[in-house]
Amino acid sequence: MRADIAVLSGDGIGPEVTAAAVAVLQAVAHRFRHAFDFAAHDIGGIAIDRHGDPLPPPTLAACRRADAVLLGAVGGPQWSDPNASVRPEQGLLALRKGLGLYANLRPVQPHPATLGAAPIKAHLLSGVDLVVVRELTGGIYFGDKTRTDTGASDLCSYSVAEVERVVRRACALARLRRGHVTSVDKANVLETSRLWREVAARIARDEFPDVTLEHQLVDSMAMHLLSKPRAYDVIVTENMFGDILTDEASMLAGSMGLLPSASLGDGRIGLYEPIHGSAPDIAGRGVANPVGAILSGALLLRHSLGLETEAACVEQAVAATLEAGVFSADLAPNGRAAGTGEVADAVIERIAAVSRVPELRD
Ligand code: IPM
Ligand code: MN
Repeated sequence: MRADIAVLSGDGIGPEVTAAAVAVLQAVAHRFRHAFDFAAHDIGGIAIDRHGDPLPPPTLAACRRADAVLLGAVGGPQWSDPNASVRPEQGLLALRKGLGLYANLRPVQPHPATLGAAPIKAHLLSGVDLVVVRELTGGIYFGDKTRTDTGASDLCSYSVAEVERVVRRACALARLRRGHVTSVDKANVLETSRLWREVAARIARDEFPDVTLEHQLVDSMAMHLLSKPRAYDVIVTENMFGDILTDEASMLAGSMGLLPSASLGDGRIGLYEPIHGSAPDIAGRGVANPVGAILSGALLLRHSLGLETEAACVEQAVAATLEAGVFSADLAPNGRAAGTGEVADAVIERIAAVSRVPELRD
């Protein structure tokens, strides 16, 4: 198949990990005889420097025309002046909103080879396989903001329709997995959470009778995620709770650098990005972990291009790479660490090998 992929590498380690993901997707295209066209566009801090705008209109227009968008990371200390009128992060938020990508899927499946890197006891981690579905275009991130000399406020609001669509997405996903959804809120305090809980319960009861739904308060969820992570299948929650819980969940996998994400709406277009930030402290040194970006490429193949076999091939190649002990510095603090390019090369080498497995078509 032919596909146009917009590449927004952004700031910090973004360009390095994105280059690794593009190299892997090129290897997939070669192996499975597809033609992927990659076109680079500016977003974030680099776009502020070049165009005075963290999401220049040509970037958004190109993303709208593309089949999928691959993104690295945005932000950095040089654009973090609290008095600045524009910030790199605004570009990312505007892109998510502009493309209507309201559901952010963040899968967490610790690999046996990296359990030692996690700060949690290994026996709690084996068999963990969960996906957080984070609402991405509403809530406090997008409410009115005010600032005066004496205070500030951020408004958190959700419409019924915004809750319905993301809960539907989570229940549909659970149906393809173990059939269990945990809806996370703070219904003992917040009105938006009481609405969230009510809507989630109705959608699950009326439209997904085969899916079991439980409700969990966000503070106890933060605790249970560490003490019994195996108990969870699909976790659905609002924008900011999802942001916080997924950084926490990344510790189950051993490093933030390992986790991918897919941001989806009602169409085929999706935005694929690792959940980590721009890590300015290690940028430009070729040491960043590209696995989160590479696995985001796998999600792109699956969700926007419908190439399930190819997606599974990338995931298996990554698993085989970790199994072989090819670790970047975040996973091998004291051992010999592989550079970003070495990890990518190791995955690419295994793309060919994995695709010889009989159940994968030629
Ligand atoms: C994430 C990031 C972003 C968010 C920032 C960069 C705006 O932390 O994707 O999790 O808060 O959504
Ligand atoms: Mn985050």
